[in-house]
Amino acid sequence: MLQIHLIVGSVMGTATELANTLSQHLETAGFTCVPNHEYAQGDLERHQDAVTLICTSNTGMGDLPANIAALEQELHNAPPPIYGRHYAIINLGDSSYPSFAESGKRLDELFQDLGARPVADMLIIDALEDSDPSVPANEWLDKVFIPALTHLNNADA
Ligand SMILES: Cc1cc2nc3c(=O)[nH]c(=O)nc-3n(C[C@H](O)[C@H](O)[C@H](O)COP(=O)(O)O)c2cc1C
Repeated sequence: MLQIHLIVGSVMGTATELANTLSQHLETAGFTCVPNHEYAQGDLERHQDAVTLICTSNTGMGDLPANIAALEQELHNAPPPIYGRHYAIINLGDSSYPSFAESGKRLDELFQDLGARPVADMLIIDALEDSDPSVPANEWLDKVFIPALTHLNNADA
């Protein structure tokens, strides 16, 4: 069964709380989920056999939270070998900011530039529209992410 390396970026706890919900949901669906709340250089390589799921908020002016900033630095400065790696991104922002969801979109570009393969289109959650991010996230898990993982799992079997 596939393992999911769940990398979390959060300032005030919304993305952290959502990641806990995601983790429970994925475990219930039969996947092993390894949450990472403080990304350190090399973590992508340490979980090279896992699917990478990023759940991050935006802060500053389109910046990543401090607990995930090392991931963007690594992708820029010392790119890890993630060619072919399956990944997906849940991007929490607020459309009242001009830099709406920009940091998650930057991560997506960096992953694709290095040859990683999205298993699903990025889920963008706008705090202005969704007061409870677990609603769109659970729907995305059930309709998009879990079916894609199941497909991968069957292909690997
Ligand atoms: C100081 C501050 C700066 C923010 N900057 C952005 C931003 O540049 N772009 C964006 O889309 N959302 C921005 N947001 C909105 C947050 O990303 C959004 O509220 C998110 O749900 C917060 O998640 P967290 O509690 O996990 O940090 C900002 C929020 C705060 C408080």
